[in-house]
Amino acid sequence: MTLRTRLVLTTVGLVTLALGLVAGATFGALQDWRGSDGSRLLAMNTPEALVAASDELTSRVAWVLAGTSAAALVLLTFLAAHLIRKGLRPLDRMVEAAADIGAGNLERRIEAARPVGEVGRLAHALNAMLGQLEGAFRQRESSEERLRRFVADASHELRTPIATIRGYAELFRRGADGRPEDLARAMHRIEAEAGRMGSMVDEMLLLARLDQGRPLERTPVDLMALAADAVSDAHAMDPGRVIGLECATPVTVTGDPLRLRQVIGNLLKNVLDHTPPGTPAVVRLGREGGHALLEVADEGPGLSEEQTERVFERFWRGEHRQADGRRLGGSGLGLSIVAAVVASHGGEVRAASTPGAGATFTVRLPL
Ligand SMILES: Nc1ncnc2c1ncn2[C@@H]1O[C@H](COP(=O)(O)OP(=O)(O)O)[C@@H](O)[C@H]1O
Ligand SMILES: [Mg+2]
Repeated sequence: MTLRTRLVLTTVGLVTLALGLVAGATFGALQDWRGSDGSRLLAMNTPEALVAASDELTSRVAWVLAGTSAAALVLLTFLAAHLIRKGLRPLDRMVEAAADIGAGNLERRIEAARPVGEVGRLAHALNAMLGQLEGAFRQRESSEERLRRFVADASHELRTPIATIRGYAELFRRGADGRPEDLARAMHRIEAEAGRMGSMVDEMLLLARLDQGRPLERTPVDLMALAADAVSDAHAMDPGRVIGLECATPVTVTGDPLRLRQVIGNLLKNVLDHTPPGTPAVVRLGREGGHALLEVADEGPGLSEEQTERVFERFWRGEHRQADGRRLGGSGLGLSIVAAVVASHGGEVRAASTPGAGATFTVRLPL
């Protein structure tokens, strides 16, 4: 029953009850009435007796009316208060729930068995709204958390090259300029670290820009030409490798050519950085159901299942190191950039690998 119908029925019921009480009491008082000599009104035989009887009747009716009205008023006040309290209990529960949610308990929902009646429907509508709000809040919380972690990781990553540069500068101040071989080494390391820091800052800026969701350039991009460029660049960097390019048909997507070039470049750079010298690799291009497919596969050490899940995390790097103990590759942002660029083109990237049998990175872009 809706709240409106219940209110109308309660009011009508209470008024009927009040009228019934007053009318019943008055009727009873009149019906039982006898004159002072025990006779009924119409049996009175003298005019004086009739006048006296009518006076007495009038005052009796007035008393009964006043008495029963007062009694009905008191009774009905209690009854109405009880009924209204009972009727408004769902609203009270809503107020309690709202206060609880306001105090930070975001999982709290309003109990309502069925979406029937105003209160039930209101409860269900509020619960749906609360679900949406909670989702948005959690999303904001997690994006804030990601940002915090990004800033913390970035500061941590930048600290190493800064410390190195500072160390060499100090060495220089203490007189390394008098020792040419030390000086050359210091200069080389300062340059290398400054370069590393520079490219890390560039990568972070690019990621920040992609995170903002700024519109990218959208032009037709011939993936085959991009892949050929990237493969020949990789050859130039590491002439000892065989990097194949397989492409049955030309594949053209709409997107930002510079960024897509960076995607292939980053994937190939990883093959150079994270597989032993001479390991062959292949870039494959194709189409699959409305998508362009770009695959970079190598025959290197591959990745474990746990590593495969983490490769696209920002600043995450594998543990392999160079002979001198330094980490290989960059700052762990290469694949994060790949993922962000591909996502901004409406596509997706996956890593698949069997440890020992090489890694395959597959990019799908809408055609
Ligand atoms: N082709 C690959 N074979 C094996 N491991 C890889 C390959 N590509 C990426 N990885 C692993 O993924 C990690 C993250 O890659 P990336 O984001 O490009 O960072 P970076 O190259 O700067 O270390 C690398 O440190 C490496 O451990
Ligand atoms: Mg890399």
